[in-house]
Formats: sequence, C-alpha cells, structure tokens
Amino acid sequence: MTEQMVEQTLVIIKPDGVEKRLIGEVVKRYETAGLRMVIMKMTILSGGFVESFYAEHRGKAFFQDLCGFMTSGPVVIMVLEGKDCIETVRAINGMTDSNAAGAGTIRGDFGDRTVIRRNVVHASDSAESARREIKLCFNC
Ligand code: CMP
Repeated sequence: MTEQMVEQTLVIIKPDGVEKRLIGEVVKRYETAGLRMVIMKMTILSGGFVESFYAEHRGKAFFQDLCGFMTSGPVVIMVLEGKDCIETVRAINGMTDSNAAGAGTIRGDFGDRTVIRRNVVHASDSAESARREIKLCFNC
C-alpha cells in the first residue's frame, strides 16, 4: 500500500455552482470524505486574475469563453487539507467534461452536459498547481 500524504488543494466553486445553490452540497461532499476546510471566501474574480490563474490554457479555443464565464458571477474559493487531498478532491469532482463524469461525482450530478466550462468546480491538479493556486488566491 502506498503511503498517504497530508496535503492541501485549492477548490473554486464556479459561478454556475453558486448560481445553482450548490455551495453547501459541494462543501458537504469534501467534509464527508474527511477533508478539513482551512480557509474559504466568496468573491467576484477580475479578468486579469482569471487570465493569470488559467495561464496554462491561454491560446486554447475555449480560453476567452472560460475567462468570461469565471468573471460572470460570484465564486467561492477554498483551501482543503487532508490525506491525499488532491486526488480525493479530483475523484469527488469527476472528469472535466460533465458528460464523462460518473454518477455520484459533483460534475456528473450537477455539471452542464452541453457546455464543458460550466462544470461547477475547479480543483488543483497537482501539488505544484496547488501551491501556485493557493498563493494566487490567498497570498499564502
Ligand atoms: P477546470 O478544472 O477549471 O480547468 C480549466 C477549465 O477549462 C475546465 O475546468 C473547464 O471549465 C474548461 N475547459 C476545459 N476543456 C474545455 C473545452 N474543451 N471546452 C471548453 N471549456 C473547457
């Protein structure tokens, strides 16, 4: 058995998740999995912030629509902590494309099956991304 690591990850409940009143449901799923909330805030992101946050996607066909969507309404940003937190959160969220996300995952249950970007949540995809994203969002 591989050793489990206590680590942190960053999650954003996107404008569609807030609009659909899913804040409590999303947080409940993470906490039920044993993860601990470290810090959380609700905010409206600026275009400049989103462009740097998603810099790795700059130039892709969906980049401008993604940035427009992420600034279209309030989001909830949180840091979660726990053993194998990054992979645990990604499993709870499901695949990026809500069509491919399994039943019982956040995106499978609540994502928009016709518009990929409207997938309810963002989460860090690696320890390096988590460090970068936590610093960008909470300056720590
Ligand atoms: P997220 O986990 O926040 O990381 C980048 C986001 O870009 C992703 O979730 C989706 O919201 C969006 N995205 C990724 N791939 C596509 C795509 N092919 N078309 C539209 N949006 C996408």
